[in-house]
Amino acid sequence: MDGLVKKTTKLFEDKVIVITGASSGLGNKITKEFIKENANVSICARRLFKLKKIRKHKAKVFFQKVDVSNEKAIIKFIKKTVKIFGKIDVLINNAGITRQSEIENINYNDLKKIFEVNLFAPVIFLRETLKIMKKKNYGRIINISSGGSTNCTETFSAYSASKAALNTLAKTLSKEIKNYNIKVNTMSPGPCKTEMFPKNKLSTSLSMPTIKYLSSLSKTGPSGKFFWFMKKIEIIPDLSHIDWSNPNYFKKKNK
Ligand SMILES: NC(=O)c1ccc[n+]([C@@H]2O[C@H](COP(=O)([O-])OP(=O)(O)OC[C@H]3O[C@@H](n4cnc5c(N)ncnc54)[C@H](OP(=O)(O)O)[C@@H]3O)[C@@H](O)[C@H]2O)c1
Repeated sequence: MDGLVKKTTKLFEDKVIVITGASSGLGNKITKEFIKENANVSICARRLFKLKKIRKHKAKVFFQKVDVSNEKAIIKFIKKTVKIFGKIDVLINNAGITRQSEIENINYNDLKKIFEVNLFAPVIFLRETLKIMKKKNYGRIINISSGGSTNCTETFSAYSASKAALNTLAKTLSKEIKNYNIKVNTMSPGPCKTEMFPKNKLSTSLSMPTIKYLSSLSKTGPSGKFFWFMKKIEIIPDLSHIDWSNPNYFKKKNK
């Protein structure tokens, strides 16, 4: 399946795209695809030697060693990105980790780390990047979630919960920024073969159409939604019609 997205477009030519967790797997694939599209990419991860290899690809790449569980390191990285490129058009919150354990045996440090990397870091990236995007009234944001956020497979409790939180985060943020030309969506890459899940079968290439679509949405495009292989899936039902302050709401409705 590699090379599924062969065509390059002019859509991303002068765009500045921030990608977290670019040293391997999906983040690495996304970075290389956007380099092919002549975009400016600003990438981070902890393994600098892996980022240096990407740097060899082309000139418009800024990379920095960042542990995304370190708030100050994120702030520094975003500031440096803006100093170099002057703007951020697209943010892809991709870095993630998992640890498996039944809840009764869960290790507190693992639990904390999963939430720091999978949830707190994306929130800090959003906070720092939104300031820049609002100034230009333009931004496209993708949070890499997972089917795990709805499958809730046993032993993946912390991972699934952290990803489910990313889904709701996008919905909340879409409401907060509704008056700007900034879109935030969440997507799952499906079960793809990467360092995190070496036994999975799919290629990371299969996610590229969705990544490119969500990175280049029009002003009227979706926001606060969840995508999987170009399909929009309503995983958070709209229950805004319910009067949550009325304990008899459903009794009345059912009469
Ligand atoms: N593969 C799948 O089947 C699958 C399915 C659903 C969702 N996902 C999601 O897809 C995203 C990418 O994962 P992947 O499958 O491509 O796995 P991967 O190859 O293990 O990539 C994870 C990336 O996150 C980075 N990372 C981890 N901890 C970090 C930290 N503290 N600071 C900075 N960077 C950190 C890693 O870089 P360093 O180690 O160099 O820091 C690496 O580049 C994740 O959010 C994952 O949950 C994957």
